[in-house]
Amino acid sequence: MSPAPTLQPGIDGSFITVFWPGGRSSRYHAVWLRDHGQDAASRDPGNGQKKLSATDLPSGLCIRGATLNGSRLKVSFDDGSLTWLDLDWLRRHAYDRTDGETLIPKGRKTWAGDLDADGVMESFPRVADDPAVLEKWLRWVDTLGFARLRDVPAVPGAVLDVIALFGFVRETNYGRLFEVRSEPDPVNLAYTRMGLDPHTDNPYRDPVPTLQFLHCLENSAGGGESNVVDGFRVAEILRREDPARFALLSRYNVTFRYCGDGRSDLTAHRPMLEVSPDGQLVQVRINSRSFQSLTGVPYDLVPDFYAAYRHLEEITRRPEVSVTFRMEPGELFVVDNTRVLHGRGGFTKTGLRWLQGAYADIDGLRSTLALLGRRHAA
Ligand SMILES: [Fe+2]
Repeated sequence: MSPAPTLQPGIDGSFITVFWPGGRSSRYHAVWLRDHGQDAASRDPGNGQKKLSATDLPSGLCIRGATLNGSRLKVSFDDGSLTWLDLDWLRRHAYDRTDGETLIPKGRKTWAGDLDADGVMESFPRVADDPAVLEKWLRWVDTLGFARLRDVPAVPGAVLDVIALFGFVRETNYGRLFEVRSEPDPVNLAYTRMGLDPHTDNPYRDPVPTLQFLHCLENSAGGGESNVVDGFRVAEILRREDPARFALLSRYNVTFRYCGDGRSDLTAHRPMLEVSPDGQLVQVRINSRSFQSLTGVPYDLVPDFYAAYRHLEEITRRPEVSVTFRMEPGELFVVDNTRVLHGRGGFTKTGLRWLQGAYADIDGLRSTLALLGRRHAA
């Protein structure tokens, strides 16, 4: 039997300290313990949804008593209420830390041009047949924002079968899936032979599609190599090289717009570098084709803003941040479109380069990943 933690009440009842076996300790406030109570009156035992609202949590709430009972911490409060919390859950949700602020959200790992593009490649039949392989592949998408698949049937619509492994297609004005090949009168510059600088897709939507898939059906053209760039790493570099420019791009909204197909007029006002109030990157929107107007930046700051914008785009084009690879028929790659930019080189008139793309959302992917992870806990 593993040793039990010990408790030490705070002197005024406003908090309690739990000393965990192994030496770590965590403080918990009275109001936090009340809010996270796991008894049936506080939280539905079936669906896990909370029954208490903020107005059910008295200000100045104090702990009257706390005891350990097997795997539970039982707590009573001075308003007469009592609850319990699972000790293992309490330890995993400890919030008494002294970590400094970090730009990159927990669980994300940034990368540059030394990322091995073949090291994040799996085989579609293996991913489809083995939950452990699927979990590994989805984990790459979640952590790195980028993963590849081979052995996907090189037939139209197969990309939808890949999305069905973890979630749902995000349908847009481009359809459930869209063709990326040169067209005589393209509604989007992606549907030409020209190279495309690294960009995130659809910054003119709110919210943007959070996952993008590109599946290669044919590639007999010369050129057209694909590339990906970690926008979170780009943001880290900009902040390190010029914090004031980073601040400008995260402070002011710009307008992204698309109305190229005659059936849509999509507009979003968001910063290129979106940072949460606690200082973590939320999302990058980097797409010069869709950056349509700059009206929200104070007049005096516009030259500085353009210097920052130019600096940001210049970093995205540095060879040392870019991972380049050629798509062969039956291969697919996925990016977290809130974070990882994608681009391509121009391609020749001879031969055909035909990709099919589709969007999906990363919340569904993370949900599937969490369910797959529970297999280990069971
Ligand atoms: Fe794109």
